Amino acid sequence: MNSPKRYTITAALPYTNGPIHIGHLAGVYVPADIFARYQRMQGKDVVFVCGSDEHGVPITIKAKKEGVSPQDVVDKYHKIIKQSFEDFGISFDNYSRTSAKIHHKTASEFFKKLYDAGKFTEETTQQFYDEKAEQFLADRFVVGTCPKCGFDGSYGDQCEKCGTSHNATDLINPKSAITGAIPTLKETKHWFLPLDQYEGWLKEWILEGHKKDWKPNVYGQVKSWIDDGLRPRAVTRDLDWGIPVPVDGAEGKVLYVWFDAPIGYISSTKEWAEKTGRDWEPYWKDEDTKLLHFIGKDNIVFHCIIFPAMLKAEGGFILPDNVPANEFLNLEGNKLSTSKNWAVWLHEYLEEFPKQQDVLRYTLTANAPETKDNDFTWKDFQARNNNELVAIFGNFINRVVVLTNKYYDGIVPKPGNFSEVDEQTLTELKAYPAVIASSIDRYRFREAQAELMNVARLGNKYLADEEPWKLIKTDEDRVKTIMYVALQIASALASLCEPFLPFTSQKLKSMLDYGRSTSEAVINMSGVVFGEGVEENEWEQISAGKELLEPGHAIGEAELLFSKIEDEQIQKQLDKLEATKAANIADNKKAESQKEIATFEEFSKMDLRVGTIVKAEKMAKANKLLVLKVDTGLDVRTIVSGIAESFKPEDIVGKKVTVLVNLAPRKLRGVESEGMILMTENAEGKLVFLNPDEDGVKNGTVIT
Ligand code: 2FM
Ligand code: ZN
Repeated sequence: MNSPKRYTITAALPYTNGPIHIGHLAGVYVPADIFARYQRMQGKDVVFVCGSDEHGVPITIKAKKEGVSPQDVVDKYHKIIKQSFEDFGISFDNYSRTSAKIHHKTASEFFKKLYDAGKFTEETTQQFYDEKAEQFLADRFVVGTCPKCGFDGSYGDQCEKCGTSHNATDLINPKSAITGAIPTLKETKHWFLPLDQYEGWLKEWILEGHKKDWKPNVYGQVKSWIDDGLRPRAVTRDLDWGIPVPVDGAEGKVLYVWFDAPIGYISSTKEWAEKTGRDWEPYWKDEDTKLLHFIGKDNIVFHCIIFPAMLKAEGGFILPDNVPANEFLNLEGNKLSTSKNWAVWLHEYLEEFPKQQDVLRYTLTANAPETKDNDFTWKDFQARNNNELVAIFGNFINRVVVLTNKYYDGIVPKPGNFSEVDEQTLTELKAYPAVIASSIDRYRFREAQAELMNVARLGNKYLADEEPWKLIKTDEDRVKTIMYVALQIASALASLCEPFLPFTSQKLKSMLDYGRSTSEAVINMSGVVFGEGVEENEWEQISAGKELLEPGHAIGEAELLFSKIEDEQIQKQLDKLEATKAANIADNKKAESQKEIATFEEFSKMDLRVGTIVKAEKMAKANKLLVLKVDTGLDVRTIVSGIAESFKPEDIVGKKVTVLVNLAPRKLRGVESEGMILMTENAEGKLVFLNPDEDGVKNGTVIT
């Protein structure tokens, strides 16, 4: 489909169990927003929808942890998340939530239609049950070892490590996430979508039909799932939080969150249509609509296999034209993690860097994990701001606006004849809209943004080469032409940067008093239909070499678009992450789970005595081992201890220690060890002799 009539653009509905961080922005929302803004600027009919994913086990787990109701959890985070999207200029036409009435109705009707048409199979199967908690263990309520990659923290429905989606009963060593108990199996009835029946169709539609236009990371994952063979997938759950299954005999059951969430895209479109008095159906049913799902890689199976199979089963909907999923963003070399607080939270970022949303948008796009996982570092963030946004983009604009005000009181001068350099520069400028557009059309946002910066470079170089500040003394007429050309580049930049840097675009446009304001696009969740039917398309005007700012037009005063980020600001962020790391280490220690119960008889078998180290020396060719002579009061014996990296032999002679004297002797590197010295770790993770009081050892630290 080359030039569709309209676009339905969806961005993954975020789980409402925490605020959102830079990983969410980089992977899903910034690319989706660039795409939507760009299409609107081309005058395309676009609806860009999202909403909060408020069902599912993650919400229930969070509620249990905080001792509040799931509704309290979703109300709290829906507000925070929606605000963050608005703050970062994610220009959704509608941001809904899956607890909305319209969504419950849409999802129930969808299920009912498939149910009535006999599209589900009904099966009574054995499901995991937690006897202690007296509930079935759906999805994330079970953790265990992934049958595919061996990761031991896999969830019941999906492994976050390898992305595989499975049934909870496939897990090795399953455990209840609620009580830690080993679950039992109990019979229960559920409805299944027989994905196996869609295998042939999926092969034809994706493996043959989208081999060329879908990203290799997406296509590869889908192919591997299909090649592994698809199995029926349960679309209902035994839970009390979610959309009730709308058929008789389904009391206590709700729709599987991954059945209802993607339908949320449809409900959000319906909500938007209601608010704006439009018809939602063409956006989901007309073949001349391009449906695009922007998601992260962990959502690929749901958007490329399960949801399309649901849409196909329903029969009345179009299918996604593309699913431009991104890989993951890491932070300073480690995986972003909500539970470990290893993240840059959007609401916190704005407290530290007020009004600098575009700097983050810019850095995240420059490092977007488009083809592989990528890393966000604060140093890179600083460098991109100082060396690119300030030194190139900001510097060019500042020179143009300051000089125009200085020489001509802010009035665009009338140019004389163009020199060869002027002609060449303006010809180069004309090529950029097509170059940037071609990258955006292929979902290569990093490349597109890099080309945008080349426009600023073009302007900078032009001014640096022509040096109007020198010529003003000798050739005033030539300066008029130079400033006229530079002003055309500046206004083109204001327009071309809008999809990437919407706040900057708005500021620059108002500084130059140029073009259509982007203010509505920045916060556009009110349902305002925006961009459609725009008479003059600014990008086309640039391509056609039209005059963007006429002689005689008055521009405003210079304002700084970007400001330098200092080392101290970056250090503060790095210190914050260090503190998080230290807190996580301490928590991990605390969290080491209790071993099996020991009976008193078992404990009293251990003969623990106070002893003194009387001699200590390093064991040859062993970095970690010291050979000690310890006076136990019973005898002086040899003990080999793995503490050489923590203590120098000379520092520990004379130390009083706790010794397990009746540990079965064993040979270590040929030396027989006759006991064990009890050790623990201090707050910094350093080995210390057992003396919790003196060394400030935390409660729960294990004695080894
Ligand atoms: O991974 C997630 O955060 C899911 N809440 C995404 C849902 S996308 C869609 F299907 F709604
Ligand atoms: Zn796995």
